Amino acid sequence: MVKMVQPSFVFSVLSIVGCAVAASWIGETKEVDGVAYQCKCYQDNACWPKGTDWTALNKTVGGALEIALPPAAACHNRVGNLSTNVYNQQECAEVQSKWTDEQWLTDHPVANLWPLYTNNTCLPSNDPNTPCTRGFYGSYVILATTKAHIKAGVDFAREHNLRLLIRNTGHDFMGRSAGYGSLIINTHSFKEATFAKKYDGPGKWTGSAATVGAGVQGRELYRQAFAQDPKVVIVGGECPTVGWAGGYIQGGGHGPLTSVYGMGADNVLSFDVVTATGEYVTANADENADLFWALKGGGPSTFAVVTSITVKTFPEVPTAGTILNINTTHTNDTAVFDEGFRIFHNLSNHYTDNGMFVYFELNLGRLHVAPLVGPRMDEAKLKQVLKPLFDQLDAAKIPYDAYTRAFPTFFEFYMDMFEDEMPQQNSIVGGRMFSQKDIAENGDQVAKALLFASQPTNDTFGFSVGHIVNPGHGVPVVDNAIHPKWRNSSSFVITNLIMNGDESWEMKELRADQQTNIVGKALREAGPDGASYVNEGDLNEPNWQESYWGSNYPKLLQLRKKWDPEGVFYAQTTPGTEDWSVIDYGTKLCRKV
Ligand SMILES: Cc1cc2nc3c(=O)[nH]c(=O)nc-3n(C[C@H](O)[C@H](O)[C@H](O)COP(=O)(O)OP(=O)(O)OC[C@H]3O[C@@H](n4cnc5c(N)ncnc54)[C@H](O)[C@@H]3O)c2cc1C
Ligand SMILES: *[C@@H]1O[C@H](CO)[C@@H](O)[C@H](O)[C@H]1NC(C)=O
Ligand SMILES: *[C@@H]1O[C@H](CO)[C@@H](O)[C@H](O)[C@H]1NC(C)=O
Ligand SMILES: *[C@@H]1O[C@H](CO)[C@@H](O)[C@H](O)[C@H]1NC(C)=O
Ligand SMILES: *[C@@H]1O[C@H](CO)[C@@H](O)[C@H](O)[C@H]1NC(C)=O
Ligand SMILES: *[C@@H]1O[C@H](CO)[C@@H](O)[C@H](O)[C@H]1NC(C)=O
Ligand SMILES: *[C@@H]1O[C@H](CO)[C@@H](O)[C@H](O)[C@H]1NC(C)=O
Ligand SMILES: *[C@@H]1O[C@H](CO)[C@@H](O)[C@H](O)[C@H]1NC(C)=O
Ligand SMILES: *[C@@H]1O[C@H](CO)[C@@H](O)[C@H](O)[C@H]1NC(C)=O
Repeated sequence: MVKMVQPSFVFSVLSIVGCAVAASWIGETKEVDGVAYQCKCYQDNACWPKGTDWTALNKTVGGALEIALPPAAACHNRVGNLSTNVYNQQECAEVQSKWTDEQWLTDHPVANLWPLYTNNTCLPSNDPNTPCTRGFYGSYVILATTKAHIKAGVDFAREHNLRLLIRNTGHDFMGRSAGYGSLIINTHSFKEATFAKKYDGPGKWTGSAATVGAGVQGRELYRQAFAQDPKVVIVGGECPTVGWAGGYIQGGGHGPLTSVYGMGADNVLSFDVVTATGEYVTANADENADLFWALKGGGPSTFAVVTSITVKTFPEVPTAGTILNINTTHTNDTAVFDEGFRIFHNLSNHYTDNGMFVYFELNLGRLHVAPLVGPRMDEAKLKQVLKPLFDQLDAAKIPYDAYTRAFPTFFEFYMDMFEDEMPQQNSIVGGRMFSQKDIAENGDQVAKALLFASQPTNDTFGFSVGHIVNPGHGVPVVDNAIHPKWRNSSSFVITNLIMNGDESWEMKELRADQQTNIVGKALREAGPDGASYVNEGDLNEPNWQESYWGSNYPKLLQLRKKWDPEGVFYAQTTPGTEDWSVIDYGTKLCRKV
């Protein structure tokens, strides 16, 4: 949830000076609970750009500027107070059939996969008279196809004091690719990826590498790596459509190969970016080394707009996987189910010590482990590594189903054994990374906290997504911005409180509070040595600076001030955003003055 600050007394003053001076357009001043804020410029302010300004921007970007319309706009006669009639029966039918199609959603100019943070104000409907407003979607979007388009967007937002949003795939679980009244730069068209057998740029690496455009998505990148001769792999996430060079790398990026090759951000050799001041900059070991460090895990939409990344590639590896289910097919006895989960999860250190990655889903009475990943393993080896798991389950008489398969390559394994997720679900997200120490000393309490998260209160249900992973064991040590605790991680779990999406503002606040202070509290108490992950965490995480970045935070704060002194970029709980809040019921981005 966007930070929920209630407006108690609101007044607005339009600065005469601000609107007259093009270089410093000053938004309205507001007071909330005795705190004074200065806001970005919005449509109801005199400092909002004139029609001629937008026309000029559109010309600069070669006609690539569009009015931002919600993905279901075609099913409605009107979108808010926009004068154009957008209803189109044929397009509406397509919207309805593609509504949960991830690729269709990521291809859309502004759609978000998880609609809670769009405010769910424009949904598909058979009745074109049902209301549709833009909710927390932006105002205009640049469908950028060149770096110059990105620069034009950054410059325009900075000069006109607009909220700027960088939108790659719309995957962000916590609404960081939506923003009321914003100018959006869409980077989805930056699809180029080139591969080199030998890297000869800055840094010590002399192996193979790839240069990957900002818009390239997970599976298409894996597919291209697999098409090389010899075949190579790149550390990426497990989801087919997550953007690789956008939020994923800038948050750190874990994935199925992380326990053998490190985090996504560990493998970056160089970034090409557009800075907050509109400069084209390269950041690597030799040039702008401070920015290079910060972009490797220091937070999405924080230091620059990334246009491409050069990254290490590695030889393909044979991979085996096991799928394990315990659910109501096997038992309805809560005590039996819980013991099964405890046994499975308590072995997290054992899996990571063996270079494994494990993806699991946990909700009431259902454990779906899909899969336990054994890179560099064949079927016999994986079965040997997993023997303690099945021995303990059998000894405790826990019923389950499991099977193991092996593949000559990681890519073939990945295509076969990973499942796609279903977008358009509403939930409030939280989570925690439990360290090796937490699991060794407190494994049963960690499991208990995770089981608790499946039904934390008598009227809420949870759904958790776990990633057992350790980029600190048997992988090269890399100095970058990710929380140093990652180097001792064992199990990183996302917790979701399930929502409908149409709850009242008060109910959303209550659920956000429950996520932070009931579920989150249980997780923090069970894992005192752990940390949190900015890409998949709680927007209201207490002490988020420490929790997301630990001892790296002071340096990140300093670098944010250096590279984005005016606050051109914004994503909640990223370095240097302490003074910024989204006020007025999730709409206006304002800075404390
Ligand atoms: C189904 C699913 C599976 C996931 N699996 C994994 C996983 O296996 N491992 C993992 O680590 N994470 C995973 N994530 C989390 C994922 O890393 C984040 O959601 C990430 O932010 C997505 O980045 P994006 O660019 O695709 O998304 P977007 O929603 O488009 O952007 C996310 C954030 O990054 C910023 N951003 C995007 N592009 C740029 C750019 N070029 N320059 C600067 N800022 C930019 C945006 O402004 C926004 O703040 C998963 C998420 C989902 C929804
Ligand atoms: C639409 O609403 C915005 C703000 O709510 C206002 O500034 C704008 O003038 C309105 N546009 C039309 C066409 O009524
Ligand atoms: C930008 O220009 C293109 C091409 O001329 C046009 O189709 C589009 O409608 C314009 N966008 C806006 C927001 O006016
Ligand atoms: C968000 O949704 C709430 C509840 O439906 C509504 O009252 C509010 O006006 C919406 N805000 C925006 C900007 O759409
Ligand atoms: C658990 O309960 C469900 C619903 O009553 C039932 O269909 C299922 O067979 C039960 N499972 C077992 C193992 O008894
Ligand atoms: C979990 O591990 C701890 C320490 O290794 C051990 O004491 C405990 O019995 C284990 N619990 C289960 C359910 O295996
Ligand atoms: C329960 O496990 C069985 C395998 O035994 C699987 O086929 C089924 O899909 C699982 N059910 C759920 C709801 O995950
Ligand atoms: C949930 O518990 C609270 C107190 O803990 C109680 O007031 C409320 O009635 C309960 N609600 C339901 C649906 O059981
Ligand atoms: C990881 O744990 C080991 C052993 O417990 C410890 O020596 C090391 O300092 C830890 N590393 C980090 C980064 O916390």
